[in-house]
Amino acid sequence: MIASPSVTDPKLASLRSQFPVLERQVHGKPLVYLDNAATTQKPLAVLEALDTYYRRYNSNIHRGVHTLSEEATTAYEDARTRIARLINAASAKQTIFTRNATEAINVVAHSWGRANLGPGDEVLITEMEHHSNIVPWQILQEQLGFTLRYLPITDSGTLDLSQLESLLNQRTKLFAFVHVSNVLGTINPAADLVAAAHAVGALALVDASQSVPHMAVDVQALDADFLVFSGHKMCGPTGIGILYGKRDLLEAMPPFMGGGDMIREVKMSGSRWNTLPYKFEAGTPAIAEAIGLGAAVDFLQEVGLDWLWQHEHALTSYAYAQLSQVEGLRIIGPGPEQRGGLVAFTLGGVHPHDLSAVLDSDGIAIRAGHHCAQPIHDRLGIVASARASFYLYNTFEEVDKLVVGLEKAAQIFAF
Ligand code: ALA
Repeated sequence: MIASPSVTDPKLASLRSQFPVLERQVHGKPLVYLDNAATTQKPLAVLEALDTYYRRYNSNIHRGVHTLSEEATTAYEDARTRIARLINAASAKQTIFTRNATEAINVVAHSWGRANLGPGDEVLITEMEHHSNIVPWQILQEQLGFTLRYLPITDSGTLDLSQLESLLNQRTKLFAFVHVSNVLGTINPAADLVAAAHAVGALALVDASQSVPHMAVDVQALDADFLVFSGHKMCGPTGIGILYGKRDLLEAMPPFMGGGDMIREVKMSGSRWNTLPYKFEAGTPAIAEAIGLGAAVDFLQEVGLDWLWQHEHALTSYAYAQLSQVEGLRIIGPGPEQRGGLVAFTLGGVHPHDLSAVLDSDGIAIRAGHHCAQPIHDRLGIVASARASFYLYNTFEEVDKLVVGLEKAAQIFAF
């Protein structure tokens, strides 16, 4: 049964009680945290997993033959297994720990890309990418001489699929696209896009930073070649993310970084690489953070991904309807049926930073700026936008407070 996202709902009240930060006040008002697409808050289960690691078994992994090291290694690898299960990876060896989604894309760019891209080749991305799925390809393009192409978006903020056939062609080696846009909220038809890439012999990389935290994502059903996401956007700690890849691709790729743990043997004459996933995990990894992400996965599964999705959908539909009533407010992106749990907008001529400052004075945290996605804003002819983004602990009442805050801002700036 799907609960109504009201603070009076017992499930929601119980979930909120597990996030200590939600008890705090900002400028004397209860915190209304609506910046979840940037990072989510952390539940007690994650805070306790981090605390227990440091208090009880802090130790380096894979190296020591002593109890603490073995406990740390087991917890780190258990976390990997739980994350692999969450996305239905065929093997935990295919889930590589990185710092974040950005680093995961950079691993693909600098390992797979350097080995496979050159003049005459094309990489296709879209106009709705986060900078993390644009800049690595731009850097590499300058060095390797391939062509970077952009699938356009429509005025309503969806991919212009009428252009796909001409842009995705025999020269395309990789189609890298965002699953859910962090600005437009648009949910892209990921499985169809992967299939279109495969039909021309290209690989597909899915940036799932805004989907894995919010909905059930199955890498095998998508048939994604690579899929990336960050832990901190799904109740986990910062500094930990995931690169998923198909096994044959990962096996064939050279290491991205050299150092300890990623080797099988080092001689002065040369080295041999470790097996997956360690080949891509050079140096001491973010052990506590990986364990914390494992705890976050358990927490989200207990909450229920179906519940989470429906909860956010109800909130987003409500926010979309309420915000649409605010005079001078323009929502960016498609209607609620086609979007994930966020709404970006402009309000008259008020700069989003000013809006955010006014809302902050009432304890309401939103995001203002270009959200690391300048090309979308250029495409829509705006410099910046304000964005409210939701997660499992948000309520209708918080959306109401946002609307009241925006009406107050409109009065202050009297546009
Ligand atoms: N890229 C993150 C966002 O969308 C930080 O806010």
